[in-house]
Amino acid sequence: MGTDLTAVINLDLPGATISRHIYGHFAEHLGRCIYGGFWVGEDSDVPNVGGIRSDVVAALRAIAIPNLRWPGGCFADDYHWRDGVGPRDERPRMVNSHWGDVVEDNSFGTQEFMALCELLGADPYVSGNVGSGSVREMSEWIEYLTRGDDSPMATLRRQHGRDAPWRVPFWGIGNEAWGCGGNLRAEQFASLARQYATYVREHAGNDVYRIAAGANVDDYHWTETLMRSFDPLEDGEGRSAPFQGISLHYYTMTGPWSDKGSATEFGTEEWYRALARAAHMEHLLDRHGAVMDRYDPKKRVGLVVDEWGTWWNVEPGTDPGFLYQQNTLRDAVVASRHFDAFHRHAGRVVMANIAQTVNVLQAMILTDPETDALVLTPTYHVFAMNTGHHDADALDVHWRGEVPTSAVDDVELETLSASASTRGDTALVSLTNLDVEQDRTIVLDLRGRDLLKHTAQVLTGPTLSAHNTAAQPDAVASARHDGVRPHPRGLEVDLPAHSYVTVSLGLA
Ligand code: AHR
Repeated sequence: MGTDLTAVINLDLPGATISRHIYGHFAEHLGRCIYGGFWVGEDSDVPNVGGIRSDVVAALRAIAIPNLRWPGGCFADDYHWRDGVGPRDERPRMVNSHWGDVVEDNSFGTQEFMALCELLGADPYVSGNVGSGSVREMSEWIEYLTRGDDSPMATLRRQHGRDAPWRVPFWGIGNEAWGCGGNLRAEQFASLARQYATYVREHAGNDVYRIAAGANVDDYHWTETLMRSFDPLEDGEGRSAPFQGISLHYYTMTGPWSDKGSATEFGTEEWYRALARAAHMEHLLDRHGAVMDRYDPKKRVGLVVDEWGTWWNVEPGTDPGFLYQQNTLRDAVVASRHFDAFHRHAGRVVMANIAQTVNVLQAMILTDPETDALVLTPTYHVFAMNTGHHDADALDVHWRGEVPTSAVDDVELETLSASASTRGDTALVSLTNLDVEQDRTIVLDLRGRDLLKHTAQVLTGPTLSAHNTAAQPDAVASARHDGVRPHPRGLEVDLPAHSYVTVSLGLA
């Protein structure tokens, strides 16, 4: 292990605050995310509170889940909220045409979602229907949720058993409007977004951050059209109007949509390709951010990456419409690499939502449909190791020495990635060694404040595709890392091959 690489961190030069909402989540009516994932119903043998799985709630509380986006995804633009309120046995059914063509009985609706958010201590992010819903529907939904007096919708909510209004700080104006959310052109959607956002009213002092459905991957024209369509300057209260954020969706896969790659059966080449594609997020944030900067140099409008993560071929034998996949050490480092990019763009990226929280795509939690056993994935552990970054101030990390690279499909992938933040008398440094076989030792050159103490954690596994199962729930789990030593300039840190390491610092 050479120690010719140094990461310089000026601990006294904090940058933009890393919103805790970058660690946000996403729950769609898709496969077993809601039904069997979050929701088992009150009569289930699985311990639950009002039908909501207690073990899932406990696991997500432990990673300080800041927000939850619901009900979709593509499902959101087919969803009519009135079908999911009131007595459960009277709720109409619908076809979930996007996901498995199954019949949805609407037993999990607005009340259940809000109860889930209350149990989690998470802010609700409701995704409103633009594709097949009306302006009136959207307007009445937020009235139902947040109004306190005897308005028609507040009265209806009371009839359904909930007296006090809820708080809903985040509201989505459509989803993937360029695709499943209506197949609209950017210009068409920009007009609709202005109109729908206008009617997402602020009742009873409920401040709403409205997020217009944004671009797919590198569709900079979409971002530009949205940015041109409204006044990013202000609404009189210092916010842009009529919406405050625009979204971006980008998924990591190693092949084309027709064959996205296996979640567990892969070699070195696909490891690097996945990581190179994850690193592409950095480029997308730079480019979309540059477009936004042209219209909004003061960064009043937020970029909300409300769908990101790995998307592999479904687990063999499972319903192709349910998007159930395993989650390995590779998924964990895809996540840590994304977080480094989000931290570095904290001035513009105000929220991000991994897709999705339970049993779908890059999940934190997998539940067994037969035994109901719960497994925490390697990705879950990255979220757990990173809670110190929530609402902390980003710190730049400058490399001294040549950052090692690996060539993937003519792209140079840096095989070391780092980010850091500080809050009060602490700092957290995240270090990912993407190299499949090369252990490394680096120096953390810590400047500007005195180091009082340190602790470290490591997440790695015996193989690149190591993952957790009910039989081996801790095959990939974070552990105390002893490979950190004092150094004249700060600390010397061992980074095992294919690992994620966090170093927590106590500062004077
Ligand atoms: O997360 C799965 C799907 O991916 C979402 O429903 C959709 O918005 C995206 O295409």
